[in-house]
Amino acid sequence: MMLSQANAALRPVSRLGGVRFMSAAVSDEVKMLEKLLAEAKERDAGKCAEESAAEAAEVAAAGPKFNIGTFNAISSAGLNTFPTRKYEIVPMADKSDEEIHAILLRSHKLSGDQVPDTTRAVARCGSGTNNIDVAALTERGIPVFNTPGANANAVKELSICGLLLASRGIVEGINHVGTIVKEDGEDFAKCKKRVESDKKMFVGRELTGKTLGVIGLGHIGASVAQTAIALGMNVTGFDPAISLEGAWRLPGDILKRASSLEQLVRESDYISLHVPYIKDATHHLINADMLKAMKPNAAIINFARGELVDSAAMRQLLESGDRTGRYITDFVDESLHDHPKVITMPHLGASTAEAEENAASMAAMEIMDFIETGTIQNSVNFPTAKLDRLPAESRRICIVNRNVPGMLGLITSTLGRANINIMQQINVSRDNIAYNVVDIADSHSPEDLAKLQDDISKLDGVISSRIVSGKDGKPGFFYVNA
Ligand SMILES: NC(=O)c1ccc[n+]([C@@H]2O[C@H](COP(=O)([O-])OP(=O)(O)OC[C@H]3O[C@@H](n4cnc5c(N)ncnc54)[C@H](O)[C@@H]3O)[C@@H](O)[C@H]2O)c1
Repeated sequence: MMLSQANAALRPVSRLGGVRFMSAAVSDEVKMLEKLLAEAKERDAGKCAEESAAEAAEVAAAGPKFNIGTFNAISSAGLNTFPTRKYEIVPMADKSDEEIHAILLRSHKLSGDQVPDTTRAVARCGSGTNNIDVAALTERGIPVFNTPGANANAVKELSICGLLLASRGIVEGINHVGTIVKEDGEDFAKCKKRVESDKKMFVGRELTGKTLGVIGLGHIGASVAQTAIALGMNVTGFDPAISLEGAWRLPGDILKRASSLEQLVRESDYISLHVPYIKDATHHLINADMLKAMKPNAAIINFARGELVDSAAMRQLLESGDRTGRYITDFVDESLHDHPKVITMPHLGASTAEAEENAASMAAMEIMDFIETGTIQNSVNFPTAKLDRLPAESRRICIVNRNVPGMLGLITSTLGRANINIMQQINVSRDNIAYNVVDIADSHSPEDLAKLQDDISKLDGVISSRIVSGKDGKPGFFYVNA
């Protein structure tokens, strides 16, 4: 009944000479609809008020929040990962007086003295951490996290674009069209004719059936290999230090493994670099000898780092005519930027909205995991650590100590002296750092726990300690004494 009344009211009103006329029946229906709408709005307003009151009560009950200090503009997708009832975002540029519990940043150069003593963790939205004084933070027992693989798809897509730019006269052709239009723009029929007759200058080759050598089979390299295979290329990989996790990502049945870098460069039509730049290890990985070992028309795609390639040697070979293959790079280089066989992009590899969102969300998850459970995943200075929570109520203590003999005994006997039973624990180490996660029964008073934490902190070799959470998991229980 109501539906048919509503439908009647939706019938178009008749128009006569620009003036609208409505029948009495239609006017009643409109009034009824307006009344229904007003009632619905009232109901909605009541519901909203109830919801905001419930939310406010929840926020108040949650107690003090964790403050996440941010440098740089962090993607809102990442910041929204932090539930507002537990976390507050504090831009560090505001120089607020808030206690900072973790720091999230992108390219900001972070020195140790910019990290307040209350900071439990630092996370970089990205993979490199050269902009952070990691050594200083390690000394203070603060883990630094990064986001490996978060931008892999973005870099993979541009590397595939690099393969195409190396194969077809795309950039040269586009530039040529621009020149023709400039010269003959008045006469467009002439322009079109010239374009058609000149296109033979830009004939390319296809990727299908060619061999791509991928150097470095980590997050990006493995993804490039997968896509190149899907494009019909034969793919050979070289990565003597591949991780077990990395090996799982590879299409092992189709990907050919090169036994040496030289074998890979000798056999490939395209070479794509996906290794980190490490001064004493990968500097000029592609040196003059490697360049000479390549097929003369092999193209090199470099979306990893400029310093991996000896650009002066490449310029020499390009000018001598011994190299005809193109070099597609994401890094401007003084020796190569103006050579016609070189296409340079302005470090665009990871520059997508999605990559920034992925990295920021991943960094936020890593920080929350560490703050709430002591879990360490993707840290560049701390060991990986995960201890599942017990079904029974428990308190969790996380202790960072120097990786020297006898520390575990000292910690457990301190707990024993306090008459505290360990329900479960893990102890892991990396380089000079050891990390303990210890679960104890949740039956101790806050005073006893404070005394225990004090005793642990006084042990020679303990760098920092904290009590993560109680049964209610309130952030307010989280404290540190370094
Ligand atoms: N252009 C950009 O904007 C951009 C963005 C992100 C990353 N990158 C670069 O890409 C690189 C790779 O990134 P990823 O996320 O794949 O890193 P990753 O750590 O997942 O993979 C790197 C791989 O290189 C391998 N490797 C190290 N040294 C090697 C060597 N000498 N020979 C062969 N393999 C070697 C490692 O074993 C590892 O498997 C980064 O180090 C970075 O420099 C560039």
